[in-house]
Amino acid sequence: MSWLLAVAVLAGFAVDLSAATDHIVGANHGWNPNINYSLWSGNQTFYVGDLISFRYQKGTHNVFEVNETGYDNCTMDGVAGNWTSGKDFIPLPEARRYYFICGNGFCLQGMKVAITVHPLARNASSSNGSSGHGSSGAQGEASAAALGTRSAAWLPALAAAVAAIC
Ligand SMILES: *[C@@H]1O[C@H](CO)[C@@H](O)[C@H](O)[C@H]1NC(C)=O
Ligand SMILES: *[C@@H]1O[C@H](CO)[C@@H](O)[C@H](O)[C@H]1NC(C)=O
Ligand SMILES: *[C@@H]1O[C@H](CO)[C@@H](O)[C@H](O)[C@H]1NC(C)=O
Ligand SMILES: *[C@@H]1O[C@H](CO)[C@@H](O)[C@H](O)[C@H]1NC(C)=O
Ligand SMILES: *[C@@H]1O[C@H](CO)[C@@H](O)[C@H](O)[C@H]1NC(C)=O
Ligand SMILES: *[C@@H]1O[C@H](CO)[C@@H](O)[C@H](O)[C@H]1NC(C)=O
Ligand SMILES: *[C@@H]1O[C@H](CO)[C@@H](O)[C@H](O)[C@H]1NC(C)=O
Repeated sequence: MSWLLAVAVLAGFAVDLSAATDHIVGANHGWNPNINYSLWSGNQTFYVGDLISFRYQKGTHNVFEVNETGYDNCTMDGVAGNWTSGKDFIPLPEARRYYFICGNGFCLQGMKVAITVHPLARNASSSNGSSGHGSSGAQGEASAAALGTRSAAWLPALAAAVAAIC
């Protein structure tokens, strides 16, 4: 019985690890001027619980989350956060549009990226799967996202399956 449980748990973690995707902006080109990030983002599918990460030379560039106005005009309109480490992992806990720009003037040279984060395909037991994940309490949302919201949703199913076996 215990080996069965171990297999189930290992399978669970395998799913867990593969579930949340880290989308590296620009792939091997990183976060730099004169790259068309619309082409990059158009080739990605983002889900709630994924991460977007920016790699760049610290001190030269940075990352600001703004709203659509800020994105369109390369301004700080609707600024919601900023990152400066040079290797920034930003959780995407909500199904919505996100807008990121470089705040050092390089936005005008193309350092802007807009993405659409999709809800998880899983409808589960909730009556409406469309927006349920974003409303489960603001506190702890980021850490839940970092751990992978998809796995969090999956774990009760694992527990139920294990209980049924044992
Ligand atoms: C990026 O590429 C798309 C598709 O080719 C194009 O429509 C868009 O104008 C380009 N953006 C920039 C800033 O060049
Ligand atoms: C889109 O992704 C595919 C698979 O990862 C890759 O082969 C292709 O070169 C990408 N296209 C662009 C424009 O980045
Ligand atoms: C920002 O861009 C929008 C179009 O997306 C435009 O309607 C608006 O006037 C611009 N705002 C400023 C302050 O330039
Ligand atoms: C962005 O935020 C600014 C305030 O900082 C606001 O005036 C503007 O309407 C917002 N734009 C959108 C598209 O929500
Ligand atoms: C960047 O974010 C920090 C909090 O993380 C905030 O204190 C600071 O004012 C922000 N800077 C700008 C320029 O928005
Ligand atoms: C999820 O729910 C929507 C309606 O809320 C329904 O149209 C869709 O078929 C459901 N998807 C699955 C996989 O059950
Ligand atoms: C489900 O979501 C749709 C919009 O996506 C809304 O019109 C409907 O009222 C919702 N139903 C429930 C039971 O929340």
